[in-house]
Amino acid sequence: MASCDLSLLYTSGLAIAAALLLWAAIGRRRKAGEPPLINGWIPFLGKALSFMKAPSTFLLSQQQKFGDVFTIHLAGRYYTFFMDPFQFVYITRNSKQLGFQEFADKMICRTFDVPSVLSTKFPEMNENLHRIYQYLQGKSLDTLSEDMMKNLQQIFERKCSQATDWEAEKMYKFCCSVMFEASFITLYGRVPAADGHKVISEIRDKFTKFDANFPYLALGIPVELLGATKKVRKELIYHFSYQNMTKWLGGSEVIQARKDLFEKYELLTVYDKAAHHFTFLWASVANTIPATFWAMYYLLRHPEALAAVRDEIDHLLQSTGQKKGPGYNIHLTREQLDNLVYLESAVNESLRMSSSSINLRLCQEDFILKLDGNQEASLRKGDFVALYPPTLHMDPEVYEDPKEYKFDRYIENGKKKTTFYKRGRKLKYFLMPFGSGSTKCPGRFFAVNEIKLFLILFATHFDAEIVENKNLGFDNNRMGLGILLPDSDIAFRYKLKSLEK
Ligand code: HEM
Ligand SMILES: *[C@@H]1O[C@H](CO)[C@@H](O)[C@H](O)[C@H]1NC(C)=O
Ligand SMILES: *[C@@H]1O[C@H](CO)[C@@H](O)[C@H](O)[C@H]1NC(C)=O
Repeated sequence: MASCDLSLLYTSGLAIAAALLLWAAIGRRRKAGEPPLINGWIPFLGKALSFMKAPSTFLLSQQQKFGDVFTIHLAGRYYTFFMDPFQFVYITRNSKQLGFQEFADKMICRTFDVPSVLSTKFPEMNENLHRIYQYLQGKSLDTLSEDMMKNLQQIFERKCSQATDWEAEKMYKFCCSVMFEASFITLYGRVPAADGHKVISEIRDKFTKFDANFPYLALGIPVELLGATKKVRKELIYHFSYQNMTKWLGGSEVIQARKDLFEKYELLTVYDKAAHHFTFLWASVANTIPATFWAMYYLLRHPEALAAVRDEIDHLLQSTGQKKGPGYNIHLTREQLDNLVYLESAVNESLRMSSSSINLRLCQEDFILKLDGNQEASLRKGDFVALYPPTLHMDPEVYEDPKEYKFDRYIENGKKKTTFYKRGRKLKYFLMPFGSGSTKCPGRFFAVNEIKLFLILFATHFDAEIVENKNLGFDNNRMGLGILLPDSDIAFRYKLKSLEK
C-alpha cells in the first residue's frame, strides 16, 4: 500500500517536473514579424552549450535551417543573430534603439571591481572617459608609437646581449613578456626602483593569472568561485594605487588625462581609481599580446611571408638611410609605418584567423529594424542583437581557402586591398577584430602599430625558427571575447643577426 502511494507521488512529481521543464524549454513564443525562434530543449541554458562548444559551426547550421536572421535562447537571454554582412550596417549605425553601455558597464564592474561609470554619483564620467580616447589618435598616437619603439628597442637590446648563440624559448611567453613590459612602460611609465623591471614582471604574472579566469568573470560566474582570482585582482589593483603611480616616470597623455579626470570625482575612492587604471591596462594588453603572438607564429610558419615582410622593411630602412640591427635605433614616421603594406596585410591576416569578438547590442524598446532590401525584423526590448564576425572572416565566398594563412590577402597590385565581395557585391565590413560602430576599439590604431613595431624589431634583430613540430589550435575558452589564445605554447629559437657593416 505504502509503496503504491509512494510511486504515485513519484509519478505525479515527475509529471509536474516534466511540465515545468517543458514550460521552461518552450519559454516564449515567436510573434508575427519576429525572426525564427530557437529555444533548445535544455531549460534555462537553451542552446548555450551547443553555441559555446563551436559558435561558428553552430551558427552556420542554424543559418542553413532558419535563414540569415534568427533568435536563439542562450542561458536565459534571447540573442537575435544577423548572419548576412550586408545587414551589419543597419545594426552598427543604430545606436539609439540598440544600446551598448548599460550591459557592458555591468560586465566591466563585476569583472574589474570598478564602480559603474554610468552612476549618477559620477556625472558625465562615461562621456569624459570617451573624450580621453582622443589621446589614442592623431599626434598623441605618434608620440605613443615613438615611445613604444624606444621601449621595445631597449627590451630587444637586453634580449640581444643574451642571444649571441641560438637561444630557445617558448613563443607565447616571449611575446607576452616583451609586449607587456613595452606597453606598460609606454602607457604607465617606468618603475624607477632598482627592481623596476621585477615589479613589472610581477604585475605581468598576476595579470596572466587573472586573465586566465577573465572568460568566467565575463560570463557572470562569481569571483568567489574562481579560486585565487579575487585575491590576485585585488593585488593587481593595489599596484595602481596613487602612491605607486606617482612614482612611475614618463607615461602617456592618455593615462595622465585619466588620472586628472579621476581627481575631479570626489566620490571615487582611492581603490576605485586604481581599479579604473587596472581595467585600462587589461584592455590595452589582453588582446594585443595574443594578436602579436599569432602574427609572429604565422610568419615563422610561412618563410615566404617572413621573407616578403623582411624585404619590405629592409627596403624602407635603406631608402631612409637607416642601418638595422642591434645598436642602431630605428625611427619611422607614421606615414612610413602606414606604408608597410605587406607587414600590415600579414598582421590583418593573423587578426582574421584569430579574432573572435562577438558584437552585442541591447534592444532599448520593442521596435522594427529596417534592413537591406526592404526586409525588416521585429525586435523585443531586453533582447540582444548579435553579430559574429568569425563567420564572415571564414566565409569562402569572401576569402578563398579561408582556413589558409595567406600573408598577402590584403594586397592588390602592391597596394592595400580593401575591396572584398560577396554575391558579387562589395562589402563594407570584411574584417572586424575591433568591433563596430560606436563601440569600436579606441586603441585599434595603437594596437596595430605596436604589433608592427614588434615585428620590425624582431625581424631586424634576429634570425628565428620554430623548433617544435606541432600545429597549434585555438583555445576555445575565449570564443566571443576577443583574440583567441593558442591551445598550447610552442618552442622556438632565435639568434642575433650578424651586424651590418
Ligand atoms: C589587437 C588588439 C586589440 C583588439 C583585438 C581589441 C579589441 C577591442 C574590441 C572588440 C573592443 C570593443 C568591445 C565590444 O564592442 O564589446 C575594444 C574596446 C576597447 N579597447 Fe581594444 N583591442 C585591442 C587593443 C587595444 C589597445 C592597445 C588599447 C589601449 C591602448 C585598447 C583599448 C580599448 C578600450 C579602452 C576599449 C573600451 C572602449 C569603450 O569604452 O567603449 N584596445 N577593444
Ligand atoms: C604598491 O605596490 C606594491 C607592489 O609593488 C604593493 O605591495 C603595495 O601594496 C602598493 N602600495 C600601495 C600604497 O597600495
Ligand atoms: C587592415 O585592417 C584595417 C581594419 O582593421 C584596415 O583599416 C586596414 O586598411 C587594413 N590594412 C590592409 C593592408 O589591408
